[in-house]
Amino acid sequence: MAIERTLSIIKPDAVAKNVVGQILARFEAAGLKIAAARLAQLSRAEAEQFYAVHAARPFFKDLVDFMISGPVMIQVLEGENAILKNRELMGATDPKKAEPGTIRADFADSIDANAVHGSDAPETAAVEIAFFFAGLNVYAR
Ligand code: PPS
Repeated sequence: MAIERTLSIIKPDAVAKNVVGQILARFEAAGLKIAAARLAQLSRAEAEQFYAVHAARPFFKDLVDFMISGPVMIQVLEGENAILKNRELMGATDPKKAEPGTIRADFADSIDANAVHGSDAPETAAVEIAFFFAGLNVYAR
C-alpha cells in the first residue's frame, strides 16, 4: 500500500464550533499523521485561486465567501492510502448524505458549511499541498 500525502482543511464552520481537536483526533485514530499544519485566515484571492477549478459553478461565490468567513486549519495528512482514507473519514459533500460516524455527518450543518475539505486525487493533492505549504518543511515520519 502506498504512503500518500493529502491536503486537508478544517473549514470555518468547524473551527468556529471549536471541534478542531476532535477532527484531528479522528485523522490520528485512523492512522494518518499530521505532516504539516497551520491556522490561517484565507484572503479572497487565495480562496478564489484554491477553488479556481469550480469558478464556473453557481455556488462559487458562496463557497469563497464561506471559506474566508473565519479562520481555517490547514494540514497535510500522511499515511497509507491517505487520500481515500481521508475522504472516507470526511463522508459525502452533503452532510445529509454522509454516512453516520463520518466527520461531515457529525459536525457539518449543510452542503455550504460542510466542515472539511480533502484532496480527491494524487495530482490534486500535490497541487493543493504546494499551494499552502510551498517552502515549508513537510515532515516524513
Ligand atoms: S465536484 O464536482 O465533485 O468537484 O463537486 P463537489 O466535490 O460536490 O464540490 C466541490 C466543492 O464545492 C463545495 N460545494 C458547495 N459550496 C457551496 N454551496 C454549494 N451548493 C456547494 N456544493 C458543493 C463543496 O463543499 C466542495 O468543497 P471542498 O472544499 O472541495 O470540499
